[in-house]
Amino acid sequence: MTEQIVILDFGSQYTQVIARRIRECNVYSVILRYNTPAPEIAALAPRGLILSGSPSSVYAEDAPLPDPALFELGLPVLGICYGLQVLAYFLGGRVEPGLKREYGKGTLRVKDSFCPLFANLPETLQVWNSHGDRLTKLPTGFKSVAVTENSDFAAIQNSDRKMFGLQFHPEVAHTPHGREIIANFVHNLCGCGKNWTMRHYIDQAVEAISAQVGREKVILGLSGGVDSSVAAALLHRAIGDQLTCIFVNNGVLRGREAEVVREVFGRHFKLKLRYVNASRLFLRRLKGVTEPERKRKIIGKTFIEVFEAAARRVGKARFLAQGTLYPDVIESVPIGGNPAAMIKSHHNVGGLPKRMRLRLVEPLKCLFKDEVRELGLELGLPREIVLRQPFPGPGLAVRILGEVTAARLEILRNADRIVVREMKDSGWYYKIWQSFAALLPVRSVGVMGDERTYGYTIAIRAVESQDGMTADWVRLPYDLLERLSNRIINEVKGVNRVCFDITSKPPGTIEWE
Ligand code: XMP
Repeated sequence: MTEQIVILDFGSQYTQVIARRIRECNVYSVILRYNTPAPEIAALAPRGLILSGSPSSVYAEDAPLPDPALFELGLPVLGICYGLQVLAYFLGGRVEPGLKREYGKGTLRVKDSFCPLFANLPETLQVWNSHGDRLTKLPTGFKSVAVTENSDFAAIQNSDRKMFGLQFHPEVAHTPHGREIIANFVHNLCGCGKNWTMRHYIDQAVEAISAQVGREKVILGLSGGVDSSVAAALLHRAIGDQLTCIFVNNGVLRGREAEVVREVFGRHFKLKLRYVNASRLFLRRLKGVTEPERKRKIIGKTFIEVFEAAARRVGKARFLAQGTLYPDVIESVPIGGNPAAMIKSHHNVGGLPKRMRLRLVEPLKCLFKDEVRELGLELGLPREIVLRQPFPGPGLAVRILGEVTAARLEILRNADRIVVREMKDSGWYYKIWQSFAALLPVRSVGVMGDERTYGYTIAIRAVESQDGMTADWVRLPYDLLERLSNRIINEVKGVNRVCFDITSKPPGTIEWE
């Protein structure tokens, strides 16, 4: 039986992050609802148990509380934040409302250097707090092993029963040594080895997809981006020809995009791929349109039309697959249940399943972007696809200011190809969030050789970001900028000026529209 850790979810927005940290330890974990009966948990023979945080208070009338028999299973237990308070509630401690909510950075001082949770860690650690209630009396048999400015009970242990509580959140990035604390718990205290890898994830996902889909047909809108590509490869592994991918050429793709997708998925993976070249239709509808929101609306609406028509030709499909990732799912998680499948408005096919009366298959819903990339490589997708930077659904239309025409698209494609090539050759492409060219339809005078020119301007954008919500411009080296400028002006007809965008977000956006 696979070694595993059970995470009980009390409704914290970080529960999936705990699961991710455990995957990083190469250990398998399952997330179960907070009130899963103890015998059900015992039947899984887990090596240990983690109690998640929660927005609730243990004394609230509708507080999510676990089956108390859990504490008699003899398993190592780690309670995180609310999880610590649950330990106190059931095992003879006391929790009281704090005078003020403790939120943000704190400094943890480890008092007991023998506590196995903090093995091989410094004596003072930066930690992240987010709690209202606080522990005021230790549960029976527990002692305090670490303190913060605001709490004498920031970390507690009962070494005989291998039970631990942390008032702070070790799973979040703001607790820099948090992953080592979790690693100490799963390896040293629960005795898990490092046996679980992405290959196992694939096996489990294949099983889950097959069970969900049965013998029904599934369709998937393939965009060539990382998420839909990895979802396609995974579904293909699970259900083979029951999957049909639809790839719509909306006329505003980058150079070679359609070829790469057809090459990789059609010829290499040999999955059922419907390629619909609707470029002419999209460009016809975009004619004369300059307002950014109108462009987006036209592209979105036309996409749905074209996609629906293509899907009808596939025949009776019951499921629509989407490459939704965990960060795409809005962060408020109803207690213990599945996260509400509210998709960020950026998602381009959001309205489809409802209209088409399809059920959703979302095999990447628990993963984070970098894990999806790892999964893609494991499934045999080329780096060119797996390590791609984000690209907006409305494509180059949002990178051409003003009207989108075939001639302007050609200019932008040529400039973009150079940016991508140079960024890749210099290694910068893989280090940053996004880098691309935008076309400004203003023309200015220049000289080339003996001739005066009157050409367009290309703006180069390179940004660093965690999630696209905020961004900073990247300090690219001057020699790289010089190469970009020289190549674009020499090789792209119609362009005689190159600018580098030094605006952060906010106040700017990442794309130019
Ligand atoms: P902005 O320009 O709003 O972009 O700062 C933030 C991030 O979102 C991407 N983006 C989109 N992605 N469909 C998408 O799938 C869209 O309509 C869309 N618009 C912007 C953008 O590339 C950046 O990474």
